[in-house]
Amino acid sequence: MIDEQTILQIKERIDIVEVVSDFINLKKSGSSYKALSPFSSEKTPSFFVSPAKQIFKCFSTGKGGDAIEFLMLIDGLSYVEALKYLAKKYGIEIIENSKDNYLSTDNSKKESLHIILKKSVEHFKKSLQSHEGKKIAYSYLKERDFDDEIIEKFDIGYAIDKWDDNYNHLKNFGFKKDLILDTGLVIEKNKKLYDRFRNRIIFPIHNVSGKVIAFGGRTLVDTSQPKYINSPETILYKKSQALYGIFQSKNEIRKENKCYIVEGYTDVISLHQKGIYNVVASSGTSLTIDQINLIKRYTSNITILFDGDEAGIKASLRGIDMILESDTNVRVILFPDGEDPDSYSKKVNSTLLSEYLINNEIDFVTFKIDLLKKITRNDPLKKVDTIKEIINSISKIPDTLKRSVYIKESSLKLEIDESILISELNKIILKNNYSSKKIKTLEEKKDSKKLISIENVISLQEKECIRILVNYGTSDSNFSIDRLSFIKYFLNEIEDVKFTNKHHLSIIECFRDSVLNDKLLDINYFLNHDDKNLKNEVIDLLSSKYELSENWIKKYKITTVEEKEILKKASLNSVLRLKFRLIQKMIENNIQLLNSDNLSEKEEKEIISDHQKLKKIEVEIANELGNVTTK
Ligand code: CTP
Ligand code: MN
Repeated sequence: MIDEQTILQIKERIDIVEVVSDFINLKKSGSSYKALSPFSSEKTPSFFVSPAKQIFKCFSTGKGGDAIEFLMLIDGLSYVEALKYLAKKYGIEIIENSKDNYLSTDNSKKESLHIILKKSVEHFKKSLQSHEGKKIAYSYLKERDFDDEIIEKFDIGYAIDKWDDNYNHLKNFGFKKDLILDTGLVIEKNKKLYDRFRNRIIFPIHNVSGKVIAFGGRTLVDTSQPKYINSPETILYKKSQALYGIFQSKNEIRKENKCYIVEGYTDVISLHQKGIYNVVASSGTSLTIDQINLIKRYTSNITILFDGDEAGIKASLRGIDMILESDTNVRVILFPDGEDPDSYSKKVNSTLLSEYLINNEIDFVTFKIDLLKKITRNDPLKKVDTIKEIINSISKIPDTLKRSVYIKESSLKLEIDESILISELNKIILKNNYSSKKIKTLEEKKDSKKLISIENVISLQEKECIRILVNYGTSDSNFSIDRLSFIKYFLNEIEDVKFTNKHHLSIIECFRDSVLNDKLLDINYFLNHDDKNLKNEVIDLLSSKYELSENWIKKYKITTVEEKEILKKASLNSVLRLKFRLIQKMIENNIQLLNSDNLSEKEEKEIISDHQKLKKIEVEIANELGNVTTK
C-alpha cells in the first residue's frame, strides 16, 4: 500500500493532458483537447480531455474518468500500479507502508504477475553477467555486436542451462506456485515443474508503459530446438495486441511521425543501436488491427521493412491491405537480396543506414503495382488477376482522393484505361458496402426510432437538467448567483418533476442533503463516490458534448451567451423543457387511453377533460419557454 500523503502528493501533481499525451496525440480544441479514441477504431475524434476538470471522456465507448483511471484503462494497470507509474513520471518518492509488499494479498492478480515477471527479468539480467552467462550468452551478444547500452535498454538477459533455476529463484521469494504458473514462465508436466526458458537469450517484451508482459527466448545452440520460444498468452500478454519495442520507441515514433515495422527482436535492437529509434516488431506474424491501432496512437505513417526475398513479400501483401483499410499512409522499404534490417545495419554505418531508409521508401500501392507487374510480365491472364488484386487493395483505402490518385497511377503503369479501372473499383466498393450498409440501415432505423420516442427526449432532457445542477452546483464559477442560492433555486424548481434515472435521483438526493446540512459539495465528492456507476454518470455529465464543443460554436458562428452568465435562466429553461416533455408524454398516454375498448361514457368524458387540462399546461409551459405550439 502507498501511504495517503504520497497519494495526495501524486494527485496534486497530475496533469491529465501530460499523462494522456504519453499514450496518444492530443490536439487542442477550444478549452479542451481531442484525439482519436484509443479504445476503439474511429475516424473522427470523439475522445476529449478537459484540463480544467482534469478528466477525459470517450464518446465512442462511453469510458471516462481522471488520469488514474485513464492509465488503468489504457494499460490495464491496477490503481496502485497507476499511482506508481505517476510517481515515477513526476519524480515523487513512494513510501510504502509494508516492506514485503510484493507478497501482499492486496495485490490484484495482474499486479502479482507483473511483480513475478519483474523479479524474473532482474534474475535473467543477473544471470547474463554470471560466470556461465558471460561465457555463453554475453559473448554471443558481443559477437553480434550488441553493445552494453543496448543490452540494458532492452533488458536483455540469459536463462541458464538448468531445469528449475528461475522457478527456484521465484519460490525463494515466497510466490505461490499457481501464480508462477500463470506467468507462463514455468511449465507443469507429470506433477513436475520446470522453466520454460532454459539456456536461451531472453528478450523481455514490454507494454506501452514499460512493464514486462512476456518473453522471447533465443537458442544459443543449433539443435532441433526452435530458434525462438515465446511466452504463452496470459492475462498480461495478448500476442495480437503487443508490439516488441513499443515502449522503447513510442516517443520517437511520435516525434518522427513515422513507425518502422520489422520482423524480429534483433531487427528492432540493431536499428536502435544504429540510431533508428522509431521501430517496432510484429514478432514474425502479420500485423493485427489492435497492433495498428496501437501505432495509430502515435502516428499514421507506417513503413514496413521487408527482407529482400520475393516469396516472403508476396506472402505478406494481403496482410498489408488491412493496414490500408485503417486509413494510414503505408509505405515499404525493400532490403537488398538476402539482407534483413539486422544484417544490413551491421554492414553500414548510421549515416548510410538512414540514407538507405530515406532513399528506398516507396508508397505501398505503387510498390505493389510494380511488383505484380514484374511477376506478370506479358501473360494477359495473369495481368487480369494483377489488376483485380490491385484494385482490391485500392478499394480498401477510405480516402476518396487517395483512391483516385492511385487509380491514375495504376492506369499509367498497367496501361489500362482509367475509366475501366474506376468502374472495376466501384463494383468492389459497392459490393463491400452492400453488406455493411444493410447493417447500418437497421441501426439507423433503430436510431431514428430512438430520436422520436418521447421517452428518449425526456431522458435526454432529464440528463440536461442534472448536468446543469452538477456542473454549477459543484464549483463557484463567477456567475450572477451564488452557489448555494442556485442549488436551492434549482431544487425548488424541480420539486414537482418526476425524475426516472436512479443516478439522477441519487444526485438530487446528495444536493438536498448538502443544502439541509448547509454544506457545499465539490466535484470530488462525486468523483470519489463508492458507487462507480454514479461516478461515471457524473463524469458523463461533466463532459457532455455541449460543454466540450466550444470550437464547434465558433466554427459555425453560433452566438451563444455563455451558459454560466445566464445560469438562472438556463436552469429554468432546462427544467421547463423537461416539464414540457413530461406533459407531452402524459398527453400521449392519455390519448392512448381513449383508444381502449369498452370505455364508459363517464370514463371517456374524464379522459377528454384531462386532455384539455394537460393541453392548457402544455401551452403555458410553451409560452414560458417562448415556444409556439401548433395545436
Ligand atoms: N519467431 C518466433 N518463433 C520462431 C522463429 C521466429 O516467434 N521459432 C519470431 C520472433 O519474434 C523473431 C521473428 O519471428 O524475432 C523473426 O524471426 P527470425 O528472423 O528467424 O528471427 P530474428 O529475430 O531475426 O533473430 P536472429 O537475428 O537471431 O535470427
Ligand atoms: Mn530475422
